[in-house]
Amino acid sequence: METDARLSGAVRPQAATRLREDSHRQLRRAATGLLTIVLLSGATCYWLVFVRITNGGLSFENELLIPDQIFGTVVEGRRQFRLTVAEGSREFLPGKRTPTAGVNGPFLGPTVRLRRGEDVDLIVRNNLDEVTTMHWHGMHVPARMDGTPHQKIRPGEAWMASFQVDQQAAPLWYHPHPHGTTGRQVYRGVSGLMWIDDDNSDALDLPKAYGVDDIPLVIQDRRFEEGGAFRFALNQGAVYGNTMLINGTWNPILRVESRRIRFRLLNGSNARIYYIGFDDDRVFHQIATDGGFLETPLRTDRLILAPGERAEILVDFSDGAEAVLRTYAEAGLLETIGGFFGGIGNGNLQLLKISPQPAVRPSHGLPERLNSISRIRASDAAKTRPMVLAGPLQRGGGPLRGVRGRRGGGAGRPGLPINGKLMDMSRIDEVVRLGDIEIWEVTNRGGQPHPFHVHLVQFQILDRNGQPPSGAELGWKDTVLVPPGDFVRIIMPFERYADPEIPYMYHCHIMEHEDNGMMGQFLVVERPGHFVNLPERLPSTS
Ligand code: C2O
Ligand code: CU
Ligand code: CU
Repeated sequence: METDARLSGAVRPQAATRLREDSHRQLRRAATGLLTIVLLSGATCYWLVFVRITNGGLSFENELLIPDQIFGTVVEGRRQFRLTVAEGSREFLPGKRTPTAGVNGPFLGPTVRLRRGEDVDLIVRNNLDEVTTMHWHGMHVPARMDGTPHQKIRPGEAWMASFQVDQQAAPLWYHPHPHGTTGRQVYRGVSGLMWIDDDNSDALDLPKAYGVDDIPLVIQDRRFEEGGAFRFALNQGAVYGNTMLINGTWNPILRVESRRIRFRLLNGSNARIYYIGFDDDRVFHQIATDGGFLETPLRTDRLILAPGERAEILVDFSDGAEAVLRTYAEAGLLETIGGFFGGIGNGNLQLLKISPQPAVRPSHGLPERLNSISRIRASDAAKTRPMVLAGPLQRGGGPLRGVRGRRGGGAGRPGLPINGKLMDMSRIDEVVRLGDIEIWEVTNRGGQPHPFHVHLVQFQILDRNGQPPSGAELGWKDTVLVPPGDFVRIIMPFERYADPEIPYMYHCHIMEHEDNGMMGQFLVVERPGHFVNLPERLPSTS
């Protein structure tokens, strides 16, 4: 019968329909199942990445440490500072000792307070058992005072940097720069803040009581071994931590008066980029970038800070409400997912709880005007240089044997070149003529963001992917974040300090990239008798 029915022409279409319906049903069931799985895993991923706090469970119990500030001593008209780099140890996590290194102390260093116009001597003693250097990041200094890999300080020796502070009020910082080991030394704790004041910053009605309403925030991620030691481990070619230290404080809380508070942020991390805001999405004002004050306060609720970058913000706590400073997962999906799986990216991290207490003093206002920044015109540039980040390595673009020294990172990984070349201390990559204004066209051909830093100068962002800058990118910068595929043109005057022999550096400020060769060298040389039309003296605060 069945066979008959199947063979009978009248029944056949019905059976075929039933078969089709069956397979449709199966397909539908499979599709629904698949959809459910996709939705569920999507939701899980979303929750893990966007909702879950990667370093969750902080109770915010440790009083935020505030680094000492030092003003130096005046010796024969010169302000003298002493910085001693040495090993030490610190209890970051309860009951665990962590071997560290620091400046004038076990971890990080004092905030060096400088004043525009003063002559300073910074005497750096190296009590480590390895070579170090000390670089004044963002400072306009002669090449031989810059503390690059060329100004080695051997163990037990001292080095002195002497220069005149000749730039506007700005939140700078200092850190070692020995080629190949910068990342390791900074990770152990060697770095500090260096703040410049000038007549403009004196005159501005801003919070200025150090540690009271003017708060330094050095933001760093670390990874700890079971026993408490720092774990310096490469992940995708750089070092990312899962534990946040703010001014070297784990699980920190800061009590402030319920009024306007100024924070001076430094991303002192080796590699992690932060997208910073408050957990209650409160609005704040950014007032300064790497190289000085913005023209006017910038109202915002988020801030991107790449390694090496600084920002100053004003936050109003007059409502008395507690808030947690934290980071958000903002980067592209791949990085965000990477942030979950490998710890890289700029995931969800709690940084610091701020607990407002009854105010004793009245709040500072919000200045309408902070600075005047005259835009440098592209037409004033004497030269344009390409800076291709993470493109292909040219033939012969590798370093000569022996010049790389001990590698700080990337063992087994090829380095990321700039203009097809890896750092070679014996090769000058660019020669700039003193007095020129130059445009550097920075392109990122790689798959991850690179913060591009230039020594000696503060630059302006001319445009990003053809668009004129806006917001915080209108400020003076010495480090600019260049995401994959971006094309950023920066413009800068080379007004000071020719040296025919000793180069300055430009590099990615992801320290393991830098240590692994993502760095180049430029000389500034005199060109007698010819100076192009410079804008008024940089910077223009007075
Ligand atoms: Cu902050 Cu060449 O470095
Ligand atoms: Cu620098
Ligand atoms: Cu990089």
